[in-house]
Amino acid sequence: MRLQQASASSIGSKILIALTGLALFVFLIGHLAGNLLFLAGPETFNEYSHKLISNPLVYVAEVGLLAVFFLHVAKTVAGVLTNRSARPTAYATRRWAKTKSPRSRKSLASTTMIVTGTFTALFLATHLATFKFGTFYEAGGIRDLYRLQLEIFSAPGYVAFYLVAMSVIFFHLWHGLSSAAQSLGVDHPQWTPRILVLGRVLSVAIAGGFFILPIYTFLLSRGVL
Ligand code: HEM
Repeated sequence: MRLQQASASSIGSKILIALTGLALFVFLIGHLAGNLLFLAGPETFNEYSHKLISNPLVYVAEVGLLAVFFLHVAKTVAGVLTNRSARPTAYATRRWAKTKSPRSRKSLASTTMIVTGTFTALFLATHLATFKFGTFYEAGGIRDLYRLQLEIFSAPGYVAFYLVAMSVIFFHLWHGLSSAAQSLGVDHPQWTPRILVLGRVLSVAIAGGFFILPIYTFLLSRGVL
């Protein structure tokens, strides 16, 4: 492949990684909003989740989510393998980043992204096994997800695992957003720093929200709340 074609396809991949990452970010906001309904009690939470899973459109959304997730992972893995076999070209300096050494910072962020991303994928496998494909309790003719969540987070080990996982995912979101902004060519002296701040606030809010749930559920299961 000619050098020009190779770099064009690498730019295409980076844009795709950024766009699929942003789509997953939006999913997480929606997922958190739905999960926070746990705080409203069993009826509200179970009814919400029943409405979600009994909507035929959910299958379309799930296939879309799965495709986006695999594209995100596949393009990242392909990028890592290509970078290993070829000398990376010098990284462009970001006008908006106050860094003296963009190259070393960028490679540190990339390494962090691969490690936290791999962890996130492994977390997701266990997460789906415990929740989506976990025990099917029933209450009032619908799935009792509230009971399942209460049962899972009554174990301190699970709570600890989730808190570690949420911290790792937080780092992935934090770095991922600035990486996505760079890949998408967001490079405005005034707007880019503001967009990055917004992304970071959202990352903290998502991680914070997901932090609350295992702790709240644990305390509830122990009769403290
Ligand atoms: C405290 C943290 C979390 C809790 C309590 C939680 C809870 C749940 C529950 C109860 C379900 C089952 C929903 C259903 O089958 O109707 C679910 C599904 C799912 N969760 Fe989470 N979740 C958490 C964090 C995360 C994170 C951080 C991710 C992504 C990195 C994630 C990704 C997913 C996905 C992809 C599904 C399947 C969605 C579907 O098939 O429609 N979750 N989660």
